[in-house]
Amino acid sequence: MNPSERFSMSLGEAIFSLRAIRRVKPDPIPEGDLRDMLLAATRAPSGGNGQPWHFLVIQDAEQRAKFGELYREAWWAKRADQGIHGPDDIDASNHTTQSAMRLADEVGEAPAIVLVCSTEQGAGAMGSVIPAVQNLLLAGRALGIGGTITTLHAVVDERVKTMFEIPSGAQIVYCVPLGYPKGSFGEVTRKPLDEVVSTETWGTPLE
Ligand SMILES: Cc1cc2nc3c(=O)[nH]c(=O)nc-3n(C[C@H](O)[C@H](O)[C@H](O)COP(=O)(O)O)c2cc1C
Repeated sequence: MNPSERFSMSLGEAIFSLRAIRRVKPDPIPEGDLRDMLLAATRAPSGGNGQPWHFLVIQDAEQRAKFGELYREAWWAKRADQGIHGPDDIDASNHTTQSAMRLADEVGEAPAIVLVCSTEQGAGAMGSVIPAVQNLLLAGRALGIGGTITTLHAVVDERVKTMFEIPSGAQIVYCVPLGYPKGSFGEVTRKPLDEVVSTETWGTPLE
């Protein structure tokens, strides 16, 4: 089957229900599904069609567990940069951060983790992988597979690169754990349109 025909969910449903999925079942993702998601990712646009991306897929349980430790260290290093030093510093009502903190403990249990890398240094190359990640997640959504975009931290960068033999000229842009959701997909919460859109001049509301 042509992969484009596998993603038959309406674009509207996929876009409007693509929540960040951080809790996933351990069930493996069929190779064909993963392949088609990666194919969708690589159909994304990039500056000058340079396609400066590389997707490193980690499925080996031992590697995922080892990487999970580095991810956890990175997550807490990012919090330390913000003056947060432990769970007690995180407001219980901050559901996003609470959920991200739990992911920091559980990421290695996701059946697949994709390290989205840029093959070149610099902001332009990094920006060129962003549409690809969104395609990856939208394609996953259509197949019932969830995930979330996450970042690492400089403190673990070299160790992650060494672990997966990532060349020094490449950079890890995002880490995307994937799997079948324990919860459900659902409507995303975003600012109303009139807060973020103007017409003709900044601040003039759209009719
Ligand atoms: C650039 C970027 C970086 C992100 N980093 C993280 C992260 O490190 N950890 C995490 O759990 N979620 C991360 N997220 C997911 C966001 O927290 C999530 O998309 C946002 O809270 C909206 O959630 P929703 O889509 O479920 O409504 C990131 C998202 C983006 C786009």
